Amino acid sequence: MKTTTNRKLKIIDLRCITPKVLIVLILLLSSAVNSQIPGNRDERLRWWKDAKLGFFVHWGPYAVNGNGEQIMKRALVPTNEYQEWVDNFKPNQGCMDSLVRFAKSIGMKYMVLTTRHHDGFCLFDTQTTNFNSVKSKSKRDFIKEYVQACRKYDMPIGFYYSIGNWRNAGSWEAGLSQDDYRIMADEVHAQVRELMSNYGKIDILWFDGAWFVGQAGYTTKGGKNKAFWRSGELHAMIRKLQPSILINNRGGGVEGDFSTPEGHIRSNTTGQAWETCMTLGYTPGWGYVRHNSTLRNANLMLYQMMDAVRLGGNFLLNVGPNEKGDIAITERAILEDIGHYIHKNGEAIYETTFNEDFYDISKGYTQGPNFRYGPWTFKDNIGYLHVFRWGGGSIILSHISAKAKKSYLLADPNNLLSIKSISNDRYEISGLPSDLRVPFVLKVEFDQAPKAIDHKTFGAEWLEGNAKVDK
Ligand code: GLC
Repeated sequence: MKTTTNRKLKIIDLRCITPKVLIVLILLLSSAVNSQIPGNRDERLRWWKDAKLGFFVHWGPYAVNGNGEQIMKRALVPTNEYQEWVDNFKPNQGCMDSLVRFAKSIGMKYMVLTTRHHDGFCLFDTQTTNFNSVKSKSKRDFIKEYVQACRKYDMPIGFYYSIGNWRNAGSWEAGLSQDDYRIMADEVHAQVRELMSNYGKIDILWFDGAWFVGQAGYTTKGGKNKAFWRSGELHAMIRKLQPSILINNRGGGVEGDFSTPEGHIRSNTTGQAWETCMTLGYTPGWGYVRHNSTLRNANLMLYQMMDAVRLGGNFLLNVGPNEKGDIAITERAILEDIGHYIHKNGEAIYETTFNEDFYDISKGYTQGPNFRYGPWTFKDNIGYLHVFRWGGGSIILSHISAKAKKSYLLADPNNLLSIKSISNDRYEISGLPSDLRVPFVLKVEFDQAPKAIDHKTFGAEWLEGNAKVDK
């Protein structure tokens, strides 16, 4: 009797499924699937957006040669020659600990280390290939050491992983057998599974290199790339193993959690979170370069970092340690200088929030008010002017729609500076020490969250000193 009733009910249920009901059912189902991922994307990104600054580390056997991470392809180095570098890759004991400790000491809030680069060498233990650090002469799992160090210093853990592997013939030639191509994707899936399973909670997966399959007769972007690497399946596996992980946008045709402008500052106009990655050297090259005369100085680097932060982005500062795992002395000195600024002015960097009324990023890049001094960052009513360029004397604030109430150097909060309201709705801030050196941060408390005033609003009256804005 019971069974009959149930069967009847089922029949009725099925009849109820009109197209509208179907849509509702699909939506319910997909939200049920999404709810298995703890928190939505914004929630997952929150700590990362507050962190602002990450440390990118490109490191592998290519460091032995000292010509950057791409030397295998750039100099057509065959695998037997490359093996010599692998054999001589014997880093110092404790190098990962020192590296993470150093990153922490200069104010970096998360790290991303190459677990394998385009040369295919794995810095982790893997069942998929003998071309890894445990089976080479060093006999060490550097990823394990890195993860342990990160946990010790409370540093969020990021893995860089190159989907492309130059040791596979399929990276270079079209027209090989299907198996030659299939093993490439199989290898990626198996290695990523190991990385996501064997090292505990991982915070960031930073993919790269999926475009190399373009050389195998496939298009570099979009659907074909996604189909080749079976990226949908790959990402689902990652999310299942590491539910709160952040994944960048280079994962083989999958959007990802954040975009990755390389070597330049440009906000994502679609509103997606973004992170600029940049090398210390002006010329491209992420791995160790033994003699590099193109290094940027600390202030130039800091300017770029603050430029990204003011536009709502993160900044991933790259370093390529040498074959022993040490950062070259010259680069270390630059990074330490960067660290001094960050320590003194961390309040003006971490957890600042993007002020969309101040910076119009609809075109990706904007200068904004007072840019001649440097970038502003914000926390509600508080503005922080990172002064990199300054004529000495007073500082004139203009094009701002809020009243400046209180101001002091962030590094010297006990000495209030004088604020005078002057013509054209400007403020003159004076009393800055005469021996003050750029860069420094000027903190200004406004009566409300400041908005930028477009120059055009003033017409020509500012010539007479009469420009007024509504505050
Ligand atoms: C490029 C390069 C690679 C580097 C990466 C960092 O994709 O191919 O060598 O690791 O940029 O963003």
